[in-house]
Amino acid sequence: MKLVCASATDAPAMASAHAQAFDRPWDAATFKTFLAGPGAYAFVAAGEDPMGVVLCRAMGGEAEVLTLAVPPWARRQGIGVALMTAAMGAARAVGASVMFLEVDIDNVAAVGLYERLGFSRAGLRKAYYDRGANGRADALVMRLDLTSSAH
Ligand SMILES: CC(C)(COP(=O)(O)OP(=O)(O)OC[C@H]1O[C@@H](n2cnc3c(N)ncnc32)[C@H](O)[C@@H]1OP(=O)(O)O)[C@@H](O)C(=O)NCCC(=O)NCCS
Repeated sequence: MKLVCASATDAPAMASAHAQAFDRPWDAATFKTFLAGPGAYAFVAAGEDPMGVVLCRAMGGEAEVLTLAVPPWARRQGIGVALMTAAMGAARAVGASVMFLEVDIDNVAAVGLYERLGFSRAGLRKAYYDRGANGRADALVMRLDLTSSAH
């Protein structure tokens, strides 16, 4: 596995990884649009098939994780941590001192990953996610101080 700082040509790879990880995936055009936005950047875990993607935005001293996805067959090998560590380093490199993200409060894997990286619970957005027939789910807002993080 190799981490690649992504450009628009990697949008199909990003969409492929995302489609395997989410019920409502973002397509390549959506990734291209996000990447063209101010402060946006992404990393792809490249293998024979795409093994993951993280997409972020950093501006005004703050960074935000827009999405993180690792396909089921590539999980529990440290790819999520590697993608997030690259994203955190890139945020620091452009002067961000804090990183935020939102995550479904019931997403045990993702919350575990973020807490392992030093993120703490900073807030709750009630009924933030639409789960279709399964109703709505709360989002946890998580925060990491990039100046003191060990990763
Ligand atoms: C969350 C996700 C990105 C994790 O990717 P990953 O490559 O498997 O993560 P890692 O292998 O780097 O795991 C790092 C740590 O996270 C935690 N973790 C990961 N998956 C977990 C699980 N299923 N249950 C509990 N903890 C988990 C563990 O602490 C793990 O360390 P360990 O394997 O040494 O126990 C992946 O499960 C995924 O894509 N899920 C669907 C999409 C999603 O939820 N994205 C995040 C939305 S905010």
